[in-house]
Amino acid sequence: MTSPLMEVGEARPSLLGSSLNDLLRHWLPRQRWYAGSGRPIAEVSTASATVLTAECLHLLVRVKESVDRDETYYQLILGAAVDPPPRLWPHVLGQVDGPDGRSLVVYDAVHDHRIAALLLDRIRMGGAHGTLRFESLPRTSIPEGLTPRVLDVEQTNTSIVYGDRLILKLFRRIQQGVNPDLEVPIRLARWGYPWVPAPQAWFFATEPFLGTLGTVQPFLTGATDGWTLALNSASTQGDFIEQASSLGRTTGELHAALAQAFPTTQPAGRHLPCLAAEMAHRLKRTVETVPALRTHASAIQQIFANAAAAPSELCLQRIHGDFHLGQVLWADGSWHVVDFEGEPSQPLPERRSDRSPMRDVVGMLRSFDYAAHMGGTPRPQWAERCRAAFCAGYSSAGGFEPAGVPALLRAYEADRAVYEVLYEATHRPDWITVPLKAVARLAAAR
Ligand SMILES: Nc1ncnc2c1ncn2[C@@H]1O[C@H](COP(=O)(O)OP(=O)(O)O)[C@@H](O)[C@H]1O
Ligand SMILES: [Mg+2]
Repeated sequence: MTSPLMEVGEARPSLLGSSLNDLLRHWLPRQRWYAGSGRPIAEVSTASATVLTAECLHLLVRVKESVDRDETYYQLILGAAVDPPPRLWPHVLGQVDGPDGRSLVVYDAVHDHRIAALLLDRIRMGGAHGTLRFESLPRTSIPEGLTPRVLDVEQTNTSIVYGDRLILKLFRRIQQGVNPDLEVPIRLARWGYPWVPAPQAWFFATEPFLGTLGTVQPFLTGATDGWTLALNSASTQGDFIEQASSLGRTTGELHAALAQAFPTTQPAGRHLPCLAAEMAHRLKRTVETVPALRTHASAIQQIFANAAAAPSELCLQRIHGDFHLGQVLWADGSWHVVDFEGEPSQPLPERRSDRSPMRDVVGMLRSFDYAAHMGGTPRPQWAERCRAAFCAGYSSAGGFEPAGVPALLRAYEADRAVYEVLYEATHRPDWITVPLKAVARLAAAR
């Protein structure tokens, strides 16, 4: 192969080395999927590399922000060209010396149509390629010649849409093990649950560990995400009751399907006191960072103490894990659920563990509250109506009635709001009043 990446007879791409690592050290923290703290990166190194095409490298890079922090792995697909076309300029990392002494421009190749198309071709072929392995469901046929485009939405990962038929989600932050965003939808589809676009093909790394890198699913054409719809409705004082109720039903059915498609766990005797202690600990830490929370701390502590003494926890099961209006899509008169990855900042075993379905319920309830506050004039009553409709829809699907276990509902919701306070304090200080108001409301309620 004649390649700007490789010298003839060399096994290791000459692109790899300290100058590429220097470029990455500066480029990575500017990417919206980068999960670091904002501090400069101390160390970047290559954990695995596979030449995908003559001008394109697949990389897993190991990033260490500082000596006292854990290392994190990111998936990169980098192109190298002497003179890339202008449409790729916004995605350039910088320049390195090529094997023949010429300068090479390195860029994020997910934005290169040719390389995105080649990647789907590689997935279609299946089998092993360097440190990568490509697999698909039996009898899957991935169409040829689909035009790729990178999805332009606020994302934790990077998705490429092919001809409005397929969507390839490339996970950016990679951990060892099966990503629940592959495991859960496949199992649900096999079980017969219809409201999750099921992966048809996927690929994973074999070095430096086994880890899911990407999934290909059907693309829901004409879909609008729940956040956009809800924000629109809240800001125009529209009626979202039907949609909220239907979303509750879909969620109840999702939990019922998850409880059947995966094993479940009966909570241990000390489960609730331990959970309440964990929530109390989070509250204490958050109060240290956000003193405004202090006035409500003892009332919220009481909510956690009430949960510790509640008659019982719900059966623990696999859940969505990061459930909010941005993770549901309205298409063809139905809700569809996407993104079963959980919270990427948590370790994979934690994200794959059995947890209370109440976590998902309060995730969505809090999301209605956010939509009611972020569309301009706050509409607390709009949120209240949506929340009631969602809970009614949820229990109509045969699950528990959230208001029927009030001590748990309040504790999980308060814990979620406390988590949001800390998140907003760190990332979006302008929005901290939204969860702070929720904490105040929960603290004041009898
Ligand atoms: N199957 C799909 N069909 C249509 N759009 C999708 C599909 N899957 C994801 N999307 C769009 O991509 C966005 C991000 O997808 P998601 O799986 O949530 O990725 P991330 O983990 O990066 O948040 C969704 O909010 C939705 O707009
Ligand atoms: Mg998402």
